[in-house]
This record gives sequence, C-alpha cells and structure tokens, in this order.
Amino acid sequence: MIIAIDGPAGSGKTTIGRMVADALGFALVDTGLFYRAVTVEARRRGIAPEDVAALIRMVGSMRIDVSTAPSGEPGPLLSIDGRDVSREAHDPAIAADLSRIAQLPEIRRLLVEPQRRSARGDAVVLGRDIGTVIFPEADQKFFFTAPAAERVARRRRELDRAGGNATSDALMEQEIDARDRADQERDVAPLRAATDAIIVATEGKSVRQVFDEVMARLPKH
Ligand code: DC
Repeated sequence: MIIAIDGPAGSGKTTIGRMVADALGFALVDTGLFYRAVTVEARRRGIAPEDVAALIRMVGSMRIDVSTAPSGEPGPLLSIDGRDVSREAHDPAIAADLSRIAQLPEIRRLLVEPQRRSARGDAVVLGRDIGTVIFPEADQKFFFTAPAAERVARRRRELDRAGGNATSDALMEQEIDARDRADQERDVAPLRAATDAIIVATEGKSVRQVFDEVMARLPKH
C-alpha cells in the first residue's frame, strides 16, 4: 500500500509521515532527499545548476541511498556512493541551488524511477508530486497546507531544537516564500494537489490532531 503526502516546506509532512509509518509498520520515503543528494553532489563536483548536460551525466554516475526506516535507526539517512551526506543535505546554504535543480525537467525525469524503487511495498511517501507524478495510483493521497507564517514558526522550532541557528524569521520567511513559488510555478510536476487528494489544513492543529485526521482517512487493510 502506498500513502502519498504532498505539500509545501514546513507543512508537517515529515512529522506526521513518520508517525503514520511508525504506527502502520510501513517504510518512510522522503523524496526531497533525492533532490538534496543531487544538489550536494553537484556542489561537491563544482557543477552549476545551469549545466544540465553535466548534471545528467553526474546523476547517471552516482548512487543515492536513502534510508526508509521511519524512526532514526542507526546508519545514515542519505548517502552518495557510500558517503554519508545527511548533514550537508539539510544545510540551508544549499537552498538556492536545490530550488533550481528541482526545477529541471531532465533531472526530475531521471529521479522518478529511483523514487519509485525506494518505495516498494508498504510505504508512506513524502514530496511535492507524489500523488500527481510518482505514484498517481497511490492508495491514499493527502495534501497538507499551512500558511507561510506558521510554517516559518515550525522551522524555527526545529532549528532551535537542533542547536540554534542565526537565521532571522524574516529571512526564513523569504526563503520559504521563494521555495514555494519555485515549486508551484515550475512547468514540470509543480506543487499541486492531485484531484483525488484529501486536503489537510494543518493550521492551528496539534500534531496529534493532524495524525488522527490522517489515520481516520486511511483505507482499511
Ligand atoms: O521536502 P524537502 O524540503 O526536503 O525538498 C527539497 C526540495 O526538493 C524542495 O525545493 C522541493 C523539491 N522536491 C520536489 O520538487 N519534489 C519532490 N517530490 C520532493 C522535493
């Protein structure tokens, strides 16, 4: 069974997706990690996001391993050719390149199969185009929404928990805004709810409330 959860950055996909996968004993596939892997490797090799031909060659020659264990088992969350890049993958310094690379149709196309392969069997799959492109036949599709200000506040709490970060709220809001716009306005696989997705407005709801709402809408199996 495949459960798709799409939505913008900070809408609660990861937190809820992990809880749902845990509760059901499913794998958790965070597809953003594939785009992050390509970005980290491009930066390491000094390939610019405009150099699409070099990026295509690079993707063909790199191995991306994404952990699908929902609750922090030992071992890296993300590795490239056996190198653990979990930390670099979430470095805010990669944000601009990440956005540009995620807009390239050629790269998106190359990442479709690896994403599908990583979610074989029972899985909760998180992303932007899971219900529309990666798993249009998903058993259940959710699309999470939350206003930008609330998503910034969540990111702030995450960063504070992770040991603090000097980024101001205004800067984070700008960054989230820029990322939303890039995700929504790209020609290929834009961030959009599938017509058969259940819209989950997470604004003002506790984690528990959103989790219960999602669990209540799952097909019985
Ligand atoms: O979910 P995330 O923040 O880790 O995603 C990183 C970037 O990858 C983000 O800019 C959107 C893009 N992305 C995408 O375009 N399609 C997906 N299925 C997942 C992520």
